[in-house]
Amino acid sequence: MKNELEEVLLTEEQIRTRVSEIAARITADYEGKDPVLVCVLKGAVFFMADLVREIRVPCEMDFMAVSSYGSSSDSSGVVRILKDLDAQVEGRHVIIVEDIIDTGLTLSYLMKNLKARNPADVQVCALLTKPARRKVDNPCRYVGFEVPNKFVVGYGLDYEERYRNLRFIAALPEEMLE
Ligand code: IMP
Repeated sequence: MKNELEEVLLTEEQIRTRVSEIAARITADYEGKDPVLVCVLKGAVFFMADLVREIRVPCEMDFMAVSSYGSSSDSSGVVRILKDLDAQVEGRHVIIVEDIIDTGLTLSYLMKNLKARNPADVQVCALLTKPARRKVDNPCRYVGFEVPNKFVVGYGLDYEERYRNLRFIAALPEEMLE
């Protein structure tokens, strides 16, 4: 699979190191706060799994699945909840764990939706950010890496449900995008 993807942007080692750094910051920032980490399925699943295991304060895991209308490589900003949280987050410290912030439209919707539930606080932890395509800016406290304006796959990120299982993150060649 590596051959057809041509350009590895982030190696397994780079991802592991950065995830540990972010977990250390969360550990320091959330002492005594018992945060709820909300993983946005499916793209953030490996990031979440690796991150929580490096966090050294008690925390909860919860999951949300959303679908954004639009093509497989472009989000429209119209979001539908496919799976909601199991937990009540009123009064809780919430951390949204996202795979990538592209236009920012999905995150904007999620922030609004979660804030309406009266949590103590909502912060964002995104593995990747693609600033070149941003339409809405949301404050993001923890960011792993900035990536160029390319469609990226691997470590949870997919193109039409493929490539999620790669241990690294690579750019998909333009000619492979529909
Ligand atoms: P946004 O609403 O445009 O910020 O993007 C929302 C979602 O689109 C992300 O959470 C990803 O699941 C997906 N996405 C955006 N860019 C990429 C990419 O380069 N590769 C894979 N998925 C992406």
